Amino acid sequence: MNVLVTGGAGYIGSHTCVELINAGHFPIVIDNLCNSNPKSLERVASITGKEVVFYEGDVRSEALLNTIFTKHSIDCVIHFAGLKAVGESVAKPLEYYENNLCSTLTLCRVMQQHGVKKLIFSSSATVYSGDNEMPLRETSKTGNCTNPYGWTKYMGEQILRDLTVADPQWSVVLLRYFNPVGAHESGLIGEHPNGIPNNLMPFISQTAIGKRHHLSVFGNDYPTHDGTGVRDYIHVVDLAKGHVAAISHLMQTTGESVFNLGTGTGYSVLDMVKAFETANGIPVPYEIAPRRPGDLATCYADPAKSKEVLGWEASKDQTDMCRDAWKWQSNNPNGYDN
Ligand code: NAD
Ligand code: UD1
Repeated sequence: MNVLVTGGAGYIGSHTCVELINAGHFPIVIDNLCNSNPKSLERVASITGKEVVFYEGDVRSEALLNTIFTKHSIDCVIHFAGLKAVGESVAKPLEYYENNLCSTLTLCRVMQQHGVKKLIFSSSATVYSGDNEMPLRETSKTGNCTNPYGWTKYMGEQILRDLTVADPQWSVVLLRYFNPVGAHESGLIGEHPNGIPNNLMPFISQTAIGKRHHLSVFGNDYPTHDGTGVRDYIHVVDLAKGHVAAISHLMQTTGESVFNLGTGTGYSVLDMVKAFETANGIPVPYEIAPRRPGDLATCYADPAKSKEVLGWEASKDQTDMCRDAWKWQSNNPNGYDN
């Protein structure tokens, strides 16, 4: 199948291109490279032996999208393109609403014009309200987002839900990712955060390689087994395979469906530090710091629906996540910049 992959040069998009190709699909990527490097797609080609068709440009450009849909017979779309830094979204809300919502609106409008009504949307566990009981099910309460980034995902879901109500030919799969970590086992593609990483795993990797002096553990007085925050970390290759599984469902159904992509197991910050040290034999110096505003004590998925309906479940463990994150970091100390 010809799959248009928006944001396909990014972290999750590049890993998904590999899995799409492995499954016999043809990814066609559009990315404006605002948070990625085209080398990721060259590396996808090295891993798979297949070139990826790439259009450098913005998903908000109706003209470019029209060109792509005219030139290629697109069967379905995976929409990764978006801005994703929580802190930045608080500082620059207009930029986040403009980019994340207008890209979705433009994309859907052009899809509709070309009669392509099959879309997978990158959503996030951040759409769940903070007062739910764990584990989070697809039916758990959403809303009460704590930052503009979270609201863009919440609103993006709503826009797509409304579209499926208005036109029953549309099929939309909303995938709510938990905490994607790790890298392709080849060490050729991985996460390349700009500046100081906000997320735990890239911070651990950069501390291990000596780019950061130590990891600050944000709070050790949460009601968890060791007092540090618990999350559902999922290997990015498992996550990528979740998209391939979702395509089969997308093509066979209409309407809107929602799936959690997580493992169902929560690990604490200190569990991840210890696992990284054990998997790689490298120390990760850390210090306990105050809690980070907006953080929850615990967040993990119930992935049962994804297993039952999509036939997908995560297969990689904590050791795989830590080993592959380090392989990427140590082989590419500056990410894709040489
Ligand atoms: P990423 O920044 O690595 O990838 C996003 C890609 O989209 C980048 O290559 C960027 O250049 C591109 N892009 C952004 N705006 C664009 C636009 N207007 N036009 C064209 N290209 C544009 O991020 P990622 O981690 O791969 O995340 C992919 C998607 O998954 C995002 O929508 C993100 O919000 C969502 N998500 C990510 C996580 C996570 O922890 N990484 C968790 C939940 C949801
Ligand atoms: C964060 C975002 C979430 C977003 C997700 C993307 C916030 C409040 N939430 O989620 O909206 O969808 O990233 O992956 O920013 N930690 C440390 N030290 C660090 C970094 C993190 O102790 O330097 C801790 C955090 O307090 C948390 C855990 O590690 O307990 C995971 O943090 P992170 O990787 O930022 O993910 P989330 O907070 O789950």
